[in-house]
Amino acid sequence: MAAVAIEQVWRRFGPHVAVSDLNLNIADGEFVVLLGPSGCGKTTSLRMLAGLERPSAGLIKIDDAVVNDVPAGKRDIAMVFQSYALYPHMSVRRNLTFGPRIRREDKAATERALGEVVAVLGLEALLDRRPNQLSGGQRQRVALGRAMLRRPKLFLLDEPLSNLDAALRGQVRAELVRLHRQFPITTVYVTHDQVEAMTMADKIAVMFHGRLHQVGTPQQVFDDPDNRAVATFIGSPPMNMLPGTLSAEDGSLGITCLETTIPLPAWVALRKPQPLPLPISVGIRATDIAITPGAADAMISGRIDVVEPMGAEIFLTIDCGSQSLICRAPGRFRLRAGETVGLAFDANHLYAFDPETGEALIDRSGWSAGDLQRDHRLEVTHHA
Ligand SMILES: Nc1ncnc2c1ncn2[C@@H]1O[C@H](COP(=O)(O)OP(=O)(O)OP(=O)(O)O)[C@@H](O)[C@H]1O
Ligand SMILES: [Mg+2]
Repeated sequence: MAAVAIEQVWRRFGPHVAVSDLNLNIADGEFVVLLGPSGCGKTTSLRMLAGLERPSAGLIKIDDAVVNDVPAGKRDIAMVFQSYALYPHMSVRRNLTFGPRIRREDKAATERALGEVVAVLGLEALLDRRPNQLSGGQRQRVALGRAMLRRPKLFLLDEPLSNLDAALRGQVRAELVRLHRQFPITTVYVTHDQVEAMTMADKIAVMFHGRLHQVGTPQQVFDDPDNRAVATFIGSPPMNMLPGTLSAEDGSLGITCLETTIPLPAWVALRKPQPLPLPISVGIRATDIAITPGAADAMISGRIDVVEPMGAEIFLTIDCGSQSLICRAPGRFRLRAGETVGLAFDANHLYAFDPETGEALIDRSGWSAGDLQRDHRLEVTHHA
């Protein structure tokens, strides 16, 4: 097992900066997800960790030893790529034990390790098959099993689930979490899928354009994003953003948007002193907007533009005059396009960002997720 430190690491390709000033500490046994959109530098970062790419500047340390000059083969790392390559002419068993065989490891020990890995991955019945006799998900598990048999210090996984169908992705995702609990090998997992990141990570590192924007637990990056980019990337549907104003009246903060002023709860503070009033980007998640069907007298109202039923819930695009918002309603609400509905924003979950820099302005440390008393969700009754 291993702890990893990435210190002021840059990677340039000619004039193009793929990774700039990356700093990231990964504790022994931790499962870290590198999350970001396509082209943000995730694979490049992982390849530098693996030793397949050299940093243009900065240090990569494994267990406090600088490994910049240590070749990939000597880093004791197992990497699973998106396009995992199995040997097509070998059975699953021979694919799994290929590494131990060429390293001439003890046969009995290999058999024992094989037995464990095969049991964990549910591959017992498949050992004599060839890769072309397996489904995509089964092949994926063989590729993972082969990496596990290495018992590496460090697991590096680059979008390993992206070519599985949705059901299988969910299944293998859960399997990976269980595996990691069983064998807590330090893991860096790259994905652009925020659901994978939220469900699997001990810690998420969010990257955009080669830069690390935030590192935190899944709940931290969801509840308390450091900037607008993180806020809109994490969570589905993406957080709504509206132009607004942050102001103070009699010492209490309030947010004005859609021609309505919403007083903020007393726990809300500013991250740093700001001259008020201040133009802001107001952020609110679909799940923090309560919908009252037919309530034309609500503080904020809008006309339903698009209805997307999902079964248990409905996503609505609501036209509020100058702005449109994505909102969520329970699936049992019978809502139709063209209908007018009332909207209520949960003031505990309003976000404010600097419209220019995107920086978060509100200090949310006073709000505690465990304190349900403060999280007075808006009660909504349905008038059919
Ligand atoms: N060998 C290379 N030569 C030149 N540019 C490169 C090279 N490898 C990567 N890049 C560029 O560096 C940037 C980061 O690439 P990288 O592959 O790390 O992105 P990524 O986050 O893994 O994206 P994706 O989710 O699409 O896999 C991209 O703009 C890419 O075009
Ligand atoms: Mg990539």
